Amino acid sequence: MSNVLRARRRLDLLQVVLFFVAVLLVVVADAGVTSQYRRKLEATVEMPLDADVFRVPPGYNAPQQVHITLGDQEGTAMIVSWVTANELGSSTVMYSEASPDPEKMELRAEGTHTRYDYFNYTSGFIHHCTLTNLKHSTKYYYAMGFGHTVRSFCFTTPPMPGPDVPFKFGLIGDLGQTFDSNTTLSHYEANGGDAVLYVGDLSYADNHPLHDNTRWDTWARFVERSAAHQPWVWTAGNHELDLAPELGEHVPFKPFAHRYPTPFWYSVRVASAHVVVLASYSAYGKYTAQWEWLRAELARVDRAATPWLIVLVHSPWYSSNGYHYMEGETMRVQFERWIVAAKADLVVAGHVHAYERSHRVSNVAYDIINARCTPVRTRDAPVYVTVGDGGNIEGIADNFTQPQPSYSAFREASFGHATLEIRNRTHAYYAWHRNQDGAKVVADGVWLTNRYWMPTDDDIN
Ligand SMILES: [Fe+2]
Repeated sequence: MSNVLRARRRLDLLQVVLFFVAVLLVVVADAGVTSQYRRKLEATVEMPLDADVFRVPPGYNAPQQVHITLGDQEGTAMIVSWVTANELGSSTVMYSEASPDPEKMELRAEGTHTRYDYFNYTSGFIHHCTLTNLKHSTKYYYAMGFGHTVRSFCFTTPPMPGPDVPFKFGLIGDLGQTFDSNTTLSHYEANGGDAVLYVGDLSYADNHPLHDNTRWDTWARFVERSAAHQPWVWTAGNHELDLAPELGEHVPFKPFAHRYPTPFWYSVRVASAHVVVLASYSAYGKYTAQWEWLRAELARVDRAATPWLIVLVHSPWYSSNGYHYMEGETMRVQFERWIVAAKADLVVAGHVHAYERSHRVSNVAYDIINARCTPVRTRDAPVYVTVGDGGNIEGIADNFTQPQPSYSAFREASFGHATLEIRNRTHAYYAWHRNQDGAKVVADGVWLTNRYWMPTDDDIN
């Protein structure tokens, strides 16, 4: 063989190799990340009933399980909830901008109380009291328990809604009350958000014999350290259903609805965000109340006033985990078209006990006959994140489907929480923190640009 021929063959071979390298690079560039990080394989362990985080506050009939949530759409009302366990305590809340001393608090609100029976359990007296006409961005001291043992707390109201008002949300789901749950909450506290968007599945009381409702009490005492000081926006998950016909319990959401005074689907406006909360376990088919409401609600969103449109839902629409696979599919089919048309920025879900972030994709082209039923990159589409990784008793969901689908940008079977730090109308920093790292370590972070004001291709990683 001549030298010339040999050289040409070598060149051909080189070209073939280069071609395959190029193909490989394209594939790798487009692929998402399935994190190789492996948490220690250990069971999630419920914190025992005598754990310090569950301690009943001292004093006769002392208010316990104190938590607050937003009481109106503008951030000028706050609903304070608590339980008195020994006897029916006062439903009065005293509050003040000026004085942390309950004796000197000059503002007063009267609440109501309720209680419920669940099989062999009777709840304490559950109080709800709405504080109204609050000023924005203002620290308020508040107290309750008058007549018995008084406890006092404080919160800061959210800033007035506006297009460039910065705000930091915590994104937490499926928390439960294990040692991992405690780590998740502590890490969130260390990261310092202003309010929590909670995407459902709170106490996991229903995983205990007879749906042991004392676990609803312990859970609320556990999260009080955060939830009494900043609003938690609640979403209903499947572990809130507490349907148990075998126990004679036929009313869905009975413990949750008595304890958490928010509707199942609703919206709040906080700083520069319009937050829409959906209910995965309430009817959402065409003409249902939730369907009618969402259609009207999306028309009410004013991106000039609140640029960031965030949707909360329990069961994810885009999840590539085998756990709860496709459970959110019917709601996706029903609502995704509207959410893309509305240019929502972020859809936050829980339910699956792992972490995942999607690229901006949609799957709304399919019309029964055109076969276009694959998620495709869509600039107007939201990023979907699943943060059902709070650390509950059911453990981690570590069976991701293989290979990783193209819509999935990053996924990892670890516990943790996320934060969304809105800077202005165009930019927000989204970060996920795994529990095994220091609280401030970002395991998955991405700058999001607003879909209404600056719809750039921000989903390159
Ligand atoms: Fe769930």
